[in-house]
Amino acid sequence: MSEAIERPSGGAPPAWEYASAPESTDVVRLEDRYGLFIGGEFVEPKSGRWYPTISPSTEETLAEVAEADAADVARAVDAARDAAPAWQRLAPAERAKYVFRIARQLQERARELAVLESMNGGKPIKESRDLDVPLAAAHFFYYAGWADKLEYAFPGRGTPEPVGVAGQIIPWNFPLLMAAWKLAPALAAGNTAVLKPAETTPLTALLLAQVIQEAELPPGVVNVVTGAGETGAALVDASVDKIAFTGSTEVGKAIRRATAGSGKRLSLELGGKAANIVFEDAPLDQAVEGVINGIFFNQGHVCCAGSRLLVQEPVFDVLLAKLKDRLQTLRVGDPLDKNTDVGAINSKAQLDKIEELVESGVDEGAEIYQPECELPERGFWFRPTLFTGVVQSHRIAREEIFGPVLSILTFRTPDEAIEKANNTPYGLSAGVWTEKGSRILHMAQRLRAGVVWANTFNRFDPTSPFGGYKESGFGREGGLHGLEPYLSFDGNHR
Ligand code: NAI
Ligand code: MG
Repeated sequence: MSEAIERPSGGAPPAWEYASAPESTDVVRLEDRYGLFIGGEFVEPKSGRWYPTISPSTEETLAEVAEADAADVARAVDAARDAAPAWQRLAPAERAKYVFRIARQLQERARELAVLESMNGGKPIKESRDLDVPLAAAHFFYYAGWADKLEYAFPGRGTPEPVGVAGQIIPWNFPLLMAAWKLAPALAAGNTAVLKPAETTPLTALLLAQVIQEAELPPGVVNVVTGAGETGAALVDASVDKIAFTGSTEVGKAIRRATAGSGKRLSLELGGKAANIVFEDAPLDQAVEGVINGIFFNQGHVCCAGSRLLVQEPVFDVLLAKLKDRLQTLRVGDPLDKNTDVGAINSKAQLDKIEELVESGVDEGAEIYQPECELPERGFWFRPTLFTGVVQSHRIAREEIFGPVLSILTFRTPDEAIEKANNTPYGLSAGVWTEKGSRILHMAQRLRAGVVWANTFNRFDPTSPFGGYKESGFGREGGLHGLEPYLSFDGNHR
């Protein structure tokens, strides 16, 4: 079968020449320094500490941001606590107006947010422009719609009440979008919040704070504290009613320990090692696009990335040849270039982790394939990478790499595919590629994953719940399920 796509010349596919099409950064007006957003104002940190935030594609410093210590975090939590009673008493339709206002303002400033997201995080502009920012706005629109309908959202459960003050800790892979996932349901349900963005990507959260200020939300309803793990840990320990966390399983476990017995509610959205399963009857060209998107979207910095490809043996050769061909056409480089498919790795630390795991793959005997491509001299980069000859015991088959690296395994029967797919401590997402509807349903029932995509991958929608099993965490975000963790019913805090 593989002869079908072998080239007569045997050479590499013809290279397409693209003129660069960089998005201008003029639309972004950076300040030299950003304070903490507390009580509706940007304030200096009591800690007196600041740190530089850089662009991972140029290593240039973009701005300095404040590093909040425990006293700063306590001040933000106090502001959220003080703001809570009035925000809760506000007529729900009024509360909705504020949330709608944020959504509209995100649309209004979409270009600025997209460019800033790509500058600070390294993701391709076509992704921040077409996915991160529109989806962030969509979350605020969606949850704004629920604000005055909470009593109808959960029939028979009693009167819904807000939980109180939410501490929200988010990662660096979708900085603005994760802020939206956290804040939109919390606000719509009548809670106040303290948000802590990831240390490498604070800038869009701080721009969101400006948007919130301009939308004239009552001071203290949303507060943003910047800093690294210590700041996050201080927020977990602070006097909040709920912690919502997205990030590594390791930190998730530490937060679980820290909150145990405290009465604080907790939701955790952690790592993943998703199986993307291609059956022999799958539409292969469509599957190739889904597999590529599944692992190379956002440099593979995606908790639900399809990082383990399971291919049914009869189509292995042809699918691999198609994947290698497709890999050659991915354009790696400047995140602000509209032609770029794969941008910069988010940080030096993440690049080190990817390199270490890839080395382990080679050492353990898997076969590596990387396309030829030039990488910029400065910044953090990693070539799109495939591994064949992967067995389940390899680290690259077990551990989350969180980079543009695909591990390919094979299977013969549906049962074997299910066994291999579920043979992981994680359980966040999975993909199934087949022509048969009955097989999709059969697989979806047996895959231990919070989301199962069929003949597509990495699709997101504010109305649709998202979350994991096992070490991928618990609790759901998105849809009605995402509203529930921010509500209690008749004082019954569950
Ligand atoms: P991380 O879990 O350390 O960072 C996520 C957030 O948690 C950041 O805001 C960070 O400042 C905060 N944090 C760190 N330590 C904390 C603590 N003790 N208490 C409270 N908050 C704390 O993730 P990191 O180190 O950036 O990445 C390591 C690996 O984690 C990645 O290689 C990837 O495998 C995984 N990861 C998964 C994500 C997901 O979306 N599920 C997102 C980010 C990382
Ligand atoms: Mg960490």
